[in-house]
Amino acid sequence: MKRDKILKQYEPTGDNLLAILHDLQNASPEHYLSDGDLRAAADYLKLAYSSVHGVATFYTMYSLKPRGKNLIRVCQSPPCHLLGSSTISRELITLLGIGFGETTADRLFTLEMTSCLGVCGVAPAMMVNERVYGNLTAERIAEVIAGLRRAQ
Ligand code: FES
Repeated sequence: MKRDKILKQYEPTGDNLLAILHDLQNASPEHYLSDGDLRAAADYLKLAYSSVHGVATFYTMYSLKPRGKNLIRVCQSPPCHLLGSSTISRELITLLGIGFGETTADRLFTLEMTSCLGVCGVAPAMMVNERVYGNLTAERIAEVIAGLRRAQ
């Protein structure tokens, strides 16, 4: 969705800043907020650019640098940790050849840690873009990554 269209879905009040930033980031194929996004949000809400920038850098859910097409977030909270999230993390690091906070050279994958995804009943879990994967094993991870590569 275009930036202007996203902005116009909201009343121009500061209360809507987080939701607007969320939608702008979701609309980005590279899962990030560009400087243009921050400026447009600031103008629309009549806020100082520095305030909007401050909010975008405060919350870890926002990124100000481009990320891969597939944003992989691995849950590191205790229930997932107890049920093997470190094995899942190691498998992803090996398969993708990157560490956490990094993006593959082909820009297909970015690997990040996250706290509880709200699906502890199927721990260990991860999220790829908007899709949650649970009951993960090293074998399942390999299947998921192979499927994502095939889908490109
Ligand atoms: S602890 Fe991992 S989904 Fe809740």
